[in-house]
Amino acid sequence: MEFGVLKHYSLSGQTVRLEFEGGTAEIGLTAPGIVNVFAPLAGPERRSKAIEGDKSRPVAFRLERRDDGLWLETDEVKVRVGDGFTVDFFDADGGEVCMDYRGQRRPLERITPERAQLLIAEGHGAELAEPDRAFEVVKKLSGGEHFYGLGDKTGFLDKRGYDYEMWNTDNPDPHVDSFKALYKSIPFFMALTDSHAYGIFLDNTFRSWFNMGQESEDYYWFGAAGGSLDYYYIAGDGLPQVLERYTYLTGACPLPQKWTLGYHQSRWGYMTQEDVQEIADGLRNHDIPCDAIHFDIDYMQDYKVFTWNKERYHGDPKSFLSGLAARGFKPVVINDPGVKQEAGYPIYEEGVEKGFFATTPEGEVYINAVWPGDAAYPDFGNPAVQEWWGRNQKFLLDLGVRGIWNDMNEPASFKGPLPDDTVFSDGARRATHAEIHNVYGHFMAKAAYEGLKELDGRRPFVITRACYAGTQKYSTVWTGDNHSIWAHLQMSIPQLCNLGLSGLPFAGTDLGGFGSDTTPELLLRWVQTACFSPLFRNHSALGTRPQEPWRFGPEVLDVYRRYVKLRYRWLPYFYDLFWEAERTGAPILRPLVFHYPGDRTARTCNDEFMVGDRVLAAPVVQQGVRQRLVYLPQGEWYDYWTGETLTGPVSVIQDAPLDVCPIYVKAGSVIPLSPPQSWVGEAEPDTLLLDVYPGEGVWDHYLDDGESFDYREGKYHQYRFTVHKDGSVDTETVHAGYDRPYREIRVLAR
Ligand code: GLC
Repeated sequence: MEFGVLKHYSLSGQTVRLEFEGGTAEIGLTAPGIVNVFAPLAGPERRSKAIEGDKSRPVAFRLERRDDGLWLETDEVKVRVGDGFTVDFFDADGGEVCMDYRGQRRPLERITPERAQLLIAEGHGAELAEPDRAFEVVKKLSGGEHFYGLGDKTGFLDKRGYDYEMWNTDNPDPHVDSFKALYKSIPFFMALTDSHAYGIFLDNTFRSWFNMGQESEDYYWFGAAGGSLDYYYIAGDGLPQVLERYTYLTGACPLPQKWTLGYHQSRWGYMTQEDVQEIADGLRNHDIPCDAIHFDIDYMQDYKVFTWNKERYHGDPKSFLSGLAARGFKPVVINDPGVKQEAGYPIYEEGVEKGFFATTPEGEVYINAVWPGDAAYPDFGNPAVQEWWGRNQKFLLDLGVRGIWNDMNEPASFKGPLPDDTVFSDGARRATHAEIHNVYGHFMAKAAYEGLKELDGRRPFVITRACYAGTQKYSTVWTGDNHSIWAHLQMSIPQLCNLGLSGLPFAGTDLGGFGSDTTPELLLRWVQTACFSPLFRNHSALGTRPQEPWRFGPEVLDVYRRYVKLRYRWLPYFYDLFWEAERTGAPILRPLVFHYPGDRTARTCNDEFMVGDRVLAAPVVQQGVRQRLVYLPQGEWYDYWTGETLTGPVSVIQDAPLDVCPIYVKAGSVIPLSPPQSWVGEAEPDTLLLDVYPGEGVWDHYLDDGESFDYREGKYHQYRFTVHKDGSVDTETVHAGYDRPYREIRVLAR
């Protein structure tokens, strides 16, 4: 990208068209606080996969050419465009917020060709080759920036000082801090300084890079291997508003069915009907509330999608699933994209006949291998393929399946990576793997969601491993193949927090760890953490130590049960948070910095998190630890277990024996609770219990049928609880559209 002097500019609506020596570009006001920077390096049209529909909203602005550049100013943001297509963002008072870097790039370590040769000889390879970048945007670091977001990246909460790559990657090695990429590509981050917060969303699906001050203390940069330069600068008065605006742009996570917030039991290795039966019995007999049992690849016939292994299910999976349903279990089944290459297999044959699979540049069906062996890859960028795939889910729904778990959709390939020039579609346009790779999972999730919505009518439940910005509209996510190691329990906190800050509030990790063998202690500390995570699923790999809660004796079972039951009690609170997430984009699980941005300890706090804005959990995430340091930010806090009050900001040493996860609730809170139940809907939800923490505060509580889309027509109740210092609560009905409101709302005696 070689832009020279700004020669001309013209205005078209809220977009300024810029003509530089060497190329054209645009600066557009998308909506209040959202500015789009665009250079049509790959053609004039926007090709966003993340943004659907027209998101433009009127914004009042002024445009003026001054000596130092062209100024586009609104009430909130001032943008200065200069020669060379420099773009600087200021606040309303003209304070610098996000400036292009003007010095010379000075990488910390320059790798000379000689040194590169040496390193390559030592086996480092690909990462040394200078990637072929279509563009780079280099921004100045003022010194105090903290960076959050970027999806599922490994490591700690604050991404400052690290570099990452966006290329959906299935790497079975234990995920450690030095990984550059994992399964998801969310090219969005938020920056926080003492004075400002802003976000950058690079809407580009090609392989891209985010160097967040790893290369230099003076600048950070992002760039991509192809496509156009298309990024959004998002202003805001804090992280919540920046995230709200990002969610406005890319879409919100829709309210899920209530049962999906319950406990899920899974394992790769429930081979037969008897295995699943044993798990269902185990859950009910051991009094572990549970709503979902997951079926991994072994339910299929030879790992062929849209089939069911009749032999292992005695010829009648439907009766078996309906038996499970009668006991409150919803079956969720895995569905991988790879379609087995096999003559006579209808899905494969139909896909070939209709041209529904990705091809080589020469037009042959492209074949790689996944679980079923040699397999073809559905071309999900083609809307007809999405529809076809979505409709095929009918086979599963007819058997009684209630949720679809999309896996291996980076896409994974056992015979080496797909060549960059493998042919896919982007709508009617021919596109390459290089462009589609990072949105393959996104398109698959969309296909699953739209299909379920059409076939079932209820709010679809989809889980995906790979995704792109905006996938939250269609699917929940999990963090893939973690291990049963303490480091991964520790990492789950910043990882889920950053997913939430990347617009993906409905997320979870494999509780207990997927690979490697768990231990009773690790499992207990994990359930104490994961009972707060939006997606609450115990899952483990074939060949590892079984980790259902009753595998380790009565004491472990008792403690495990306590935390699953806590989650079930708190379901109305979680449901309220999901309702909020759909309206504002606020995550369920939040890092402390989300609500306490000025608090320096909060900005890098990795072993505590908030659930909504009034509950703080400080789980133990180290082996052998029975006491831990807890940091409480400003305000009055109640110890959930003892009722003791503490005034923050303060650090306290908290006892945390193996059965205790330290939990704190802010004064003035009310936690809406459900009566005890073993699955969502077992107990008639006509009574609401209020767990009150005296102080001053207001909580809006939401109630609907828990599964249909009727709430969008106003069929819900919204209650407002006002808490007072003496512990009394006033109840008001703000919206009364649901035909089965509570018959009783009662304050719980503590
Ligand atoms: C992948 C998934 C894992 C699943 C396994 C077998 O590794 O990430 O969750 O159990 O495949 O289907």
